Amino acid sequence: MNKDKEVLIQDQDQSHFVLSLINSRQNVAPKRLVVPGPSQQQLEKIFSAAVTAPDHGLLQPWRFILIPEHKRDALGTAFVNALKERDLKASQVQIESAYTKAFRAPCVMICVLNNKVSQPHIPKNERLISLGCALQNMLLMAQSMSIGCGITSGQSINSEPIRKLFQLSSDEEGICFLNFGTVKEYKPKRPIPNPSSFFSSL
Ligand SMILES: Cc1cc2nc3c(=O)[nH]c(=O)nc-3n(C[C@H](O)[C@H](O)[C@H](O)COP(=O)(O)O)c2cc1C
Repeated sequence: MNKDKEVLIQDQDQSHFVLSLINSRQNVAPKRLVVPGPSQQQLEKIFSAAVTAPDHGLLQPWRFILIPEHKRDALGTAFVNALKERDLKASQVQIESAYTKAFRAPCVMICVLNNKVSQPHIPKNERLISLGCALQNMLLMAQSMSIGCGITSGQSINSEPIRKLFQLSSDEEGICFLNFGTVKEYKPKRPIPNPSSFFSSL
């Protein structure tokens, strides 16, 4: 970080801006995300936000894999195969719905956790927290550029067809998908819990 930026952060109270950014973020379902998706430059900013996530042991225990337009058919087929594997009686309607899920958001990526045994040993919970922090950084960066975003998981996220498509190693696990695009329509914001419901003092 250059010296000017350090001074700016130390000298100015940024809490109002940060709080309003955090408060304005909202999960947007992929079916409400339309083109245009983030530009290459915007995507680079989103990824640069991920790398500053807290990371015990500096393992960077996560990675993100983009699914470009020409690979959506392969993703849809993996969703269908995952559905058929867990439900032999899946109907044609369910199969079609599983396939079309792959085509919803203009920009989609899978978030992968790495649980490879390492030195120092950092347990899975801590690695997941690091991934969660990276995700939140990315969501907030997207929000700051007025890009809509949403997380999706679903039963197929770590299924064999999805693992095979993304060539996940035995140390890796699919955790969720991250979707970006232009918001077609916002849903009403959820009621925000009062901090007193989860914060206490010993
Ligand atoms: C790991 C993870 C997985 C999620 N998976 C889904 C999902 O499959 N479908 C969905 O509609 N929302 C999913 N969400 C988003 C939550 O539903 C959403 O964050 C929650 O409703 C709160 O809304 P907000 O983010 O707008 O405050 C997921 C969130 C997380 C953290």
